[in-house]
Amino acid sequence: MKINKKMQDAFNAQIKEELYASHLYLQMAFWFSKEGWNGFAGWMGKQSHEEKEHAMDMAKFLVDRGGEVLLTDIPSVQTSWDSPTDVFKDAMAHEEHVSAQIEKLANVADEVKDRAAANFCAKYVDEQVEEEKTMRDILTLFEHSGGAGLALIDHIVGEGRK
Ligand SMILES: [Fe+2]
Ligand SMILES: [Fe+2]
Repeated sequence: MKINKKMQDAFNAQIKEELYASHLYLQMAFWFSKEGWNGFAGWMGKQSHEEKEHAMDMAKFLVDRGGEVLLTDIPSVQTSWDSPTDVFKDAMAHEEHVSAQIEKLANVADEVKDRAAANFCAKYVDEQVEEEKTMRDILTLFEHSGGAGLALIDHIVGEGRK
């Protein structure tokens, strides 16, 4: 079954969200590098790459379903932050935003009765639970450290232990 127009539009909107997230996290990675937080920089760089992969995966799904990928301008992202905590608070808020958008996408799939799209969305609904948890865990480490020990957290996150 060729993909329905409403479903296609919703996927293209989500692809834009994923690419925006990729830009945002890449900018965060560069900010961390500039400030000398190399562990966080590496970790954010990986997140940026993963968001690009989400966009590519969704684009492939559209193509596989006989749909059309329509890329649009990506809005510019914030370029500086006051502290590592601020960056992770913004990243957490962004993941929550993406989770809400993914739910909307899944709702469109239900509305147009597209089972393949609904199945496809289900893995991203699960993925968002993980992504939010990871960000929350890092923010909790920041809270526990009370501002001290940030360098150690930078090292731990950089090593992929969080
Ligand atoms: Fe994503
Ligand atoms: Fe994400």
